[in-house]
Amino acid sequence: AVIDSMRYREAYRPQFHFSPEEKWMNDPNGLVYYDGTYHLFYQYYPGDIVWGPMHWGHAVSKDMVYWEHRPIALFPDEHGLIFSGSAVVDYENTSGFGTADKPPMVAIFTYHNMEGEQEGRSDFQTQGIAYSLDKGATWTKYQDNPVIGNEAGIRDFRDPKVFWHADSSSWIMVLVAGDHAKFYRSENLREWEYLSDFGKDVGAHGGVWECPDLFAMKDEETGEEKWVLLISINPGAPNGGSGTQYFIGNFNGTQFTSNQKDTRWLDWGTDNYAGVTYNNLPDEERLFIGWMSNWDYARDTPTENWRSAMTLPRNLRLLKKGDRFIVASSPVENFGTILKREVQESVQLASEASKTITFDNLNQAEVRFSTSGDFVLKFKNSLEEELVLTLDSDKNLFLLDRVASGKTAFKENFADKIQQMPVADLGDAPATFRILMDWSSIEVFINDGEYVMTAQLFPNEPYTELEIRNPSEEDLDIPDLEISRAETIW
Ligand code: FRU
Repeated sequence: AVIDSMRYREAYRPQFHFSPEEKWMNDPNGLVYYDGTYHLFYQYYPGDIVWGPMHWGHAVSKDMVYWEHRPIALFPDEHGLIFSGSAVVDYENTSGFGTADKPPMVAIFTYHNMEGEQEGRSDFQTQGIAYSLDKGATWTKYQDNPVIGNEAGIRDFRDPKVFWHADSSSWIMVLVAGDHAKFYRSENLREWEYLSDFGKDVGAHGGVWECPDLFAMKDEETGEEKWVLLISINPGAPNGGSGTQYFIGNFNGTQFTSNQKDTRWLDWGTDNYAGVTYNNLPDEERLFIGWMSNWDYARDTPTENWRSAMTLPRNLRLLKKGDRFIVASSPVENFGTILKREVQESVQLASEASKTITFDNLNQAEVRFSTSGDFVLKFKNSLEEELVLTLDSDKNLFLLDRVASGKTAFKENFADKIQQMPVADLGDAPATFRILMDWSSIEVFINDGEYVMTAQLFPNEPYTELEIRNPSEEDLDIPDLEISRAETIW
């Protein structure tokens, strides 16, 4: 549980995001809240800094800001490697693995059988479960695994998300099967009954569907309830490679339905993938964590002893924009406790004018402001490397340009184009911008997360200058520019 801080002084190490002490990490798994503790399990390969035989790594937090490492929770066994999945607290002991006084925590995951795959079979992914009677510290695999086999031989059959569905008094599972989601129900987490499919003919299908999540949300204003289905896809994201789309609809205990026609993305940047939400939270919050990378280049990023980090934990909200619902996401509120405001300015710029603010380390900082005008914002260092954010309201686009941001040549598709996000509906009031940079990542939240972009970047030196330029014919008014230093959590 003790963190070796030296490991967190390595080049590009995030200082306020979760990353493993060493070695390879991908998807968040088993996000569950239990007895005052947020658990984060994750796809982990302890043998190298590239993907390998998957385990579930484990960390815990009391506040979603500071994390403590725990020993590896799940190891591969005779059924296969431990791929992505979820965890629940079985308070009623429906599974019989614990007692009502000592409810078990149950993990539901995919077994990936490498031998089966190598033999050219297509039934190598099945679903298994494990339980813990000591709040996630030690785990026992269920003796009759797998609990869902793969008789149909579906090649991509994985990533079960399970939650308690009060209306039908049952456990509901959603998993993905290549190009669609499948739903199952159970009364005891051990025996599962197939219910229905969703998605073959709707949504984005540029790649295989992965890491689903299903949950109900209430519109903040009207209290109206909708069900949200998250589906990660790889490839096929709007700016290349991996990304997460969502569907707004209804779930009646048996079937998910949606009349959504357009594709909606939770995050338009290249680096927020396989994200899912917490089970068993005390109130109606929806907390989300994503993997801050992209399969296009995840194995190639220029770090030495570990690879990749999680996004900041985000609070998801359901909002109505015009006649449609969207899911907005913004950093968990507690995150504000590690920010210290150091710059507060009002900036007025005539057409084509610019202003530069120096700040010793923009790579561990938050920049926020509001404005109704267009801007070009550059984070720069003395090597003339720059990360550029542009708001272009003629084209209704927000652009994230990391082409000259630092190290990019490690993989040709890392920075071959400027990332785009359509922002057709910024509203009449000045839009708000909140930008968080943490050594090798940037997260941009517009209007409290109605529009979001997350991306990795690898400057050779920290950025120390923030240049703001007014590209438009009108004056640019930014009354409230603030820069805050973010504390290190490691
Ligand atoms: C998503 C994913 C999952 C799978 C896991 C394997 O990034 O491909 O579908 O379970 O990673 O590590």
